[in-house]
Amino acid sequence: MIISPSVLAMDYSRMKEQTEELNNSGAEWLHYDVMDGHFVPNLALGPDLLKGFCKISPLVKDVHLMVEEPFKYSNVFAKAGADYITVHAEVLYDYIMIKEIARFIHELGCKAGLAVKPMTEVEVLRPYLKDFDLFLIMSVEPGFSGQTFMPGSLTKIKALRSWIDNSGSKALIEVDGGINMETGRECIAAGADVLVAGSYAFRGDVRKQVQSLVTGRSSIEAGK
Ligand code: DX5
Ligand code: ZN
Repeated sequence: MIISPSVLAMDYSRMKEQTEELNNSGAEWLHYDVMDGHFVPNLALGPDLLKGFCKISPLVKDVHLMVEEPFKYSNVFAKAGADYITVHAEVLYDYIMIKEIARFIHELGCKAGLAVKPMTEVEVLRPYLKDFDLFLIMSVEPGFSGQTFMPGSLTKIKALRSWIDNSGSKALIEVDGGINMETGRECIAAGADVLVAGSYAFRGDVRKQVQSLVTGRSSIEAGK
């Protein structure tokens, strides 16, 4: 399983230090939330900051675009160093547009992801199992770190897992929002491959927090 700590929840007065901790934590990805103040009621994380992270971290840059203009910003963040670019199904109006954004992101040299908010049915993803490299199930309303995991997400993960496995798609399932050791375990049991962790990862010792997600055990249980 892959852990993707969300830099949205970093202590911005200690970014370099916390990035170095992340680099040595067992996390393989770095989750980068982009918010345009329209699709979600918050503004966050531009392309120049991503370029800075690329200089100090070898982790896979997992860019989550919570924006109303996914084509424009896919281009911007691909140039800034994104490896994965995930866009929201809610801003893509039809079948052709969704196919087109997958093609567009691949042409930019990135892996493509498709996300759904908690109130969007997971069935929306089903026609595109082989078009995308990743599907993101939001387990909180997008916009802010520190919210509580919505358990209904587990049903979505299970359904998506069986569709992906039966289709022969190699796409990964990522879960974002309210992940801690307990909810992380439940998501993995339901079939998730990638856990995003914001507030949990940056609460205290980053390395210990990430390790507890990797192993499913706290540092006390693990005797460290
Ligand atoms: C929320 C973001 C998340 C957020 C997760 O809209 O997409 O990536 O940082 O934070 P936690 O893990 O605290 O819910
Ligand atoms: Zn996110």
